[in-house]
Amino acid sequence: VFPQKVRIVEVGARDGLQNEKAVTTADKVALINALAAAGLKDIEAGAFVSPKWVPQMADSADVISALNLPDVNLSALTPNLKGAQAAHAAGIKEFAIFTAASESFCQKNINCSIEQSIERFSDVMEFAKAHNIKVRGYVSCVLGCPYEGEIDPQAVLYVSQKLLALGCYEISLGDTIGVGTAKKVTELLTLLLQHIDKSQLAVHFHDTYGQALTNIYAALNLGIATVDAAVAGLGGCPYAKGASGNVATEDVVYLLQGLGIKHAIDLQRLSDAGWQITKALGKQPVSKVSIALHAK
Ligand code: HMG
Ligand code: MG
Repeated sequence: VFPQKVRIVEVGARDGLQNEKAVTTADKVALINALAAAGLKDIEAGAFVSPKWVPQMADSADVISALNLPDVNLSALTPNLKGAQAAHAAGIKEFAIFTAASESFCQKNINCSIEQSIERFSDVMEFAKAHNIKVRGYVSCVLGCPYEGEIDPQAVLYVSQKLLALGCYEISLGDTIGVGTAKKVTELLTLLLQHIDKSQLAVHFHDTYGQALTNIYAALNLGIATVDAAVAGLGGCPYAKGASGNVATEDVVYLLQGLGIKHAIDLQRLSDAGWQITKALGKQPVSKVSIALHAK
């Protein structure tokens, strides 16, 4: 059964821009303001990670400090206590911690094992609790890993339950390299939903193999009501070679409209936001919906 309403978590300014050539702080601020003006209420605005690892996110504090969006839930990646403290100082009200269902990917991405990552997060959780900050948990490689190939759905369940036990309010399931197909999505979610309430699960699909929208349809069909997406289909992951951008937010909105599922987004303004940022990047949106609207 489809949900009546879907919440879109816009990750273009983080997941998108972390893997594009660097854009100016002003362009990032303009992007986030344009996304908010298009009606997005949940916007991942940056990452408080090591600037040596991901230089594109080094100005996250400046970006967030320049925003004045009281009605928007601005979140940011916080891999450790140092990141959490910096995000809090910049005014972030929601953290995102991130680990993986694949041991090798976890090592490559955050330089520790899955178990060590969970230990590291307890400091972040304690800090968040003390400051009344919600925490989202990402699990990467839920449908495949660039280093290990197939991933056991039981591993995804295990890590998701660990993050929920730590106090995350929601788990975002990442198909980091976009290899999943609808059948696998259905099988994975069917297992997870036996143990985790659907209100605590979100899906985060990259579109490497062009399956993201179909995979979202499969997830919606099982009642999942939170979908991550990036305007203009921006992005990828620096630690997953060949990973392309996230599913384009414009395409997700068009899908929801067609299904009669409620959302709060003005598609034209969203598309304009995508053209604006891709212009700064010297490219065009990777969204068929956006290109079609633009050609009208
Ligand atoms: P490390 O090297 O193991 O950490 O990195 P460390 O504690 O030993 O620190 C090393 C240096 O980093 C020190 O600086 C620290 O101060 C600094 P130095 O003394 O060498 O000058 N440092 C920091 N600086 C700023 N902010 C911080 C911070 N922490 C340490 N928070 C660490 C561990 C986690 C920091 C590193 O591996 C890292 O930053 N990784 C980030 C990787 C990343 O951002 N990946 C992309 C996002 S995840 C993703 O895209 C997947 C997702 O979209 C879902 C999906 O699609 O699957 C979420
Ligand atoms: Mg991602």
